[in-house]
Amino acid sequence: MAVFEHPEFAGHERVVHVADRATGLRSIIAIHDRTLGPAVGGCRVFPYATSADAIADVLRLSKGMTYKNALAGLPLGGGKSVIIADPKDKTPELIRAFGRAVDELAGQYWAGQDVNFGIADAEIVAGVTPYVLGRTKGRVTSGDPSPFTAGGVFAGMKGALSHVFGNSDVAGRRVAVQGLGSVGFKVARLVTEAGGRVVVSDVRPESTERAARELGADVVPTEAIFDERCDIFAPCAMGATISEETVPRLRARIICGAANNQLSHPQVGRTLMERGIAYAPDYVVNAGGVLNAFGDFSGVYDVAAVWPKVESIADTVVRILEGADRQKRPSSDIADEMAEAVLAEARNERQARQKAPPGRAAQTG
Ligand code: NAI
Repeated sequence: MAVFEHPEFAGHERVVHVADRATGLRSIIAIHDRTLGPAVGGCRVFPYATSADAIADVLRLSKGMTYKNALAGLPLGGGKSVIIADPKDKTPELIRAFGRAVDELAGQYWAGQDVNFGIADAEIVAGVTPYVLGRTKGRVTSGDPSPFTAGGVFAGMKGALSHVFGNSDVAGRRVAVQGLGSVGFKVARLVTEAGGRVVVSDVRPESTERAARELGADVVPTEAIFDERCDIFAPCAMGATISEETVPRLRARIICGAANNQLSHPQVGRTLMERGIAYAPDYVVNAGGVLNAFGDFSGVYDVAAVWPKVESIADTVVRILEGADRQKRPSSDIADEMAEAVLAEARNERQARQKAPPGRAAQTG
């Protein structure tokens, strides 16, 4: 399907297809919106079955980054990239070829970490372009984003708990964590450290065994996690796990997790509302990583200043859930509207600046 007619197109500014003969790289870089600043978003390495799957994924993720950065209060636009490859076939040459493609965009897009694209990859990209975040070497180094992403998800959980139960205390709550990767395991740890209990699933038995050993987690098979009675369901694996098929099985009051694009379709937001499940929108609660990586972009990294912003995700979640209750509308729609309002205000301000006669401020000041 042509990009302009694609159901996920959403007015993207640029969608760049990259093919590198020497390395076999096939990548798509999507820049959704730069109203607030240069587009920032991670690079995902995934063996998409078809390039249509890759396009749909990158467009959805890139728009999500525009909204994420807007609601996180960052002067950044939204973009994302995918490399169509099995992570087993990832080579430094392939990643370098991707980095050169990012460099040719001359700062319109900054790449960061995502699934199957970690710190080591970011360092390889940094060898060929300055437009990369989440580094551990160099002048400014924000490093691994996952502790901050996990911290933001945990803050989101507290916001949602206070909205639903009138009390943000995690102690005594049961949380189902789907996916124990860089973020999911840390979320599970934060929950248990706060006195909650976790039930977990992962396709990798070594991860669930570790969670059982270190966190006293209950372990269930991957498909069974949807049926667990819990206070919070935390999707921390891949996207689209919250669907018309899985929602009727959920026995949670809250959904709050790290995965991007958790809802298989926007309509699922309404289904969740009708079932009385408070959904803390994915791009709101998983913004901790980009809040941290912003230092690499701005050139000033102050970890002490990052944490209060990560903690403030709790307040944003409360505002969204309150708005959803008041308007009797899905929280996912409320969050989208809040992000659109931030963008509209920035566009209006820009237009007003462009219309103002030169030197006017000096004359009237
Ligand atoms: P990861 O790749 O380290 O972890 C994903 C985990 O999910 C792996 O342990 C994998 O085995 C497991 N998994 C895969 N399929 C599963 C299934 N069907 N059921 C249960 N577990 C399954 O990824 P990471 O970094 O922890 O990210 C998790 C999610 O959060 C992703 O969707 C990512 O896009 C999103 N995210 C991550 C950020 C970060 O800072 N790492 C920032 C924002 C979003």
